[in-house]
Amino acid sequence: MTLRYETVAEHLLTAITQGIYRAGERLPSVRLLSQQHQISTATAVSALRLLEDQGQIEARQRSGYYVRPRLRSVLQEPTMSSPSREPTQVTGQELVLRLVKAANNPQFIQLGAAVPAPSFLPTQKVAQLSATTSRRYRQRMSSYEFPPGAPELRRQIAKRMSEQGCPIDPNDILITNGCQEAMTLALRAITVPGDIVAVESPTFYGLLQVIESLSLRAIEIPTHPREGIALEALQLACEQWPIKACIVVANYSNPLGYCMSDLRKQALVELINRHQIMLIEDDIYGDLGFGLQRPSTVKSWDSEGRVLYCSSFSKSLSPGLRVGWLVPGALYEKTEYLKYVTNLATPTLAQLIVAEVLEHGGYDRYLRRARQQYRQAVERMTAAVGGYFPPGTRITQPQGGFLLWVELPGKVDAITLTQQALALGISIAPGPIFSATQKYRNFIRLNCAVDWDERLNKALVTLGQLVQKKLNG
Ligand SMILES: Cc1ncc(COP(=O)(O)O)c(C=O)c1O
Repeated sequence: MTLRYETVAEHLLTAITQGIYRAGERLPSVRLLSQQHQISTATAVSALRLLEDQGQIEARQRSGYYVRPRLRSVLQEPTMSSPSREPTQVTGQELVLRLVKAANNPQFIQLGAAVPAPSFLPTQKVAQLSATTSRRYRQRMSSYEFPPGAPELRRQIAKRMSEQGCPIDPNDILITNGCQEAMTLALRAITVPGDIVAVESPTFYGLLQVIESLSLRAIEIPTHPREGIALEALQLACEQWPIKACIVVANYSNPLGYCMSDLRKQALVELINRHQIMLIEDDIYGDLGFGLQRPSTVKSWDSEGRVLYCSSFSKSLSPGLRVGWLVPGALYEKTEYLKYVTNLATPTLAQLIVAEVLEHGGYDRYLRRARQQYRQAVERMTAAVGGYFPPGTRITQPQGGFLLWVELPGKVDAITLTQQALALGISIAPGPIFSATQKYRNFIRLNCAVDWDERLNKALVTLGQLVQKKLNG
């Protein structure tokens, strides 16, 4: 016998399937349901709970029940990139600055920058340790902590890297103002203006900005959304051009989110050894994988000292502290000097706070929680894009981090989409800024590490509608 609440649930489900209530839309309230079906409010609640248990709808605090976005079967991955085969001057990066400035507005829904919302970061622990650390080191924190940086911090970093299978001595480490400075110092130490560097395509726009500012040329290498930089294409480029260095984010790249296998990491090291080029490894997302094991670093396979390793605590602890590091190998003295002449030192207090978090702050416990949070955030955003964006949309399946690379159907132009979204208070990152030659016109990158509330949900519905309108012409 079918119970009354089951019949009501069935009725609602039919309405959802027929599109009368669409993904993201609110269902009638309990009171309205009980009036419409002449049932008690308890029966109406049971009907809604049944649909909630089936994953069809979700309750939102003090707001009612909403139809859950559903994955349109399984969304397809974007295709492998096929960038230009020639080195080029990097252009168009001033657009990034304009977008970053617009996106700095706290009123905006922040889907553009790859910055986790504070709820994803251990802000309370950092605040508590900054208070105790500044009391303990009242005098020391007022002095410079000249390069290579605070010994206790370098010791903690060396310990972690060694435990992760990459034996490093504290004296191999140079503390920097974030990963961006580590990459900049590495590039400055290796290249002179006009040199060619190989980059993944698409790649992190901050890197393209550094390349542009150092008057270097970039050659974009096709990159697979799950396997990473195409080694055969990199090999061809090395045979054809005098490439000085290659830069990769092998663990959970930005924007693709792939993680290179150990075999491919080893093959990459063999390739750079064969061609005698340097490799700059940016491992900023390495601790943020969704799997059980932390992936290896390319540096751990480095047999001839050709890998310069860069990372920071910006994605895992606090972007505002601006603490990163570089393992520059044979270029230690050169990069140490460059660091010194650029900005003398990294702030002392920030270095000491991070050392304290690593030693006594339960950093690993926090990381375990953060990895879960990021995975859930990526799943949720994937489901929302699947539910709200038009058919034909493709999306990456990142194995770590918190970014999604979305290929929009047809000829939807990501730059005008970004401008329209900004006018509505929504910041997104348009595809062309991830390429030296402004490819990826129909791609956007979304930051998933955002607080999920009604405003965000509405913003995603709006984005989906904007894309649909563009698609209709
Ligand atoms: C791949 C990658 N490298 C470097 C950075 C910059 O890191 P930091 O804030 O530590 O300078 C980012 C920030 O988005 C990034 O995604």
